[in-house]
Amino acid sequence: MLETIVTEAQINETLDRIAAEIKRDFGDEPLLLVGVLKGSLYILADLSRRLGPNVEIDFVQVSSWHGGRSSSGIVQIRKDLDISIEGRNVVVIEDIIDSGLTIKHLRELFATRKPKCLKVAALLSKPEARVVDPHVEYIGIEIPNEFVVGYGLDDKERYRNLPFIAILRDDESAS
Ligand code: IMP
Ligand code: MG
Repeated sequence: MLETIVTEAQINETLDRIAAEIKRDFGDEPLLLVGVLKGSLYILADLSRRLGPNVEIDFVQVSSWHGGRSSSGIVQIRKDLDISIEGRNVVVIEDIIDSGLTIKHLRELFATRKPKCLKVAALLSKPEARVVDPHVEYIGIEIPNEFVVGYGLDDKERYRNLPFIAILRDDESAS
């Protein structure tokens, strides 16, 4: 069973706000948006179109989730960036901050590559699930500690294409 907790309209309002915050901080300076695959797919697409023309896009893929519903605690890079971030303004785009382990690891890794500025944006956050507490400059919506799907977030690769965010109750996931 899917129970909507964030509507399409709320997602759009949140992206408007985050885009305004990013523009306030960076003005017309060039930006490199780094999407964390695959969950950031829709957020990156919709947020990048709210920003000016001076935007480049790259992707990183990490594994920490292993297709299950709880984080393993080990973060590995499966696909690294194609573009050098040295001297660049970088905004890492995440779908959700859960344990915090993925973003902590990426922040530490990217910081060693000497960007001019490194910030993180996440559409959703589950504060109750935090194991480590990395800094996140742009946070969309705080949600309870429930397993959610939609707008990029999956359960075993399903439900990413829902245009809203929903709590997935257990009877749906058995298949
Ligand atoms: P972390 O625990 O903060 O490292 O989050 C790791 C990743 O787990 C996120 O980027 C998501 O891809 C995934 N994740 C965390 N919570 C959920 C959820 O409720 N539904 C689907 N994926 C999730
Ligand atoms: Mg993710």
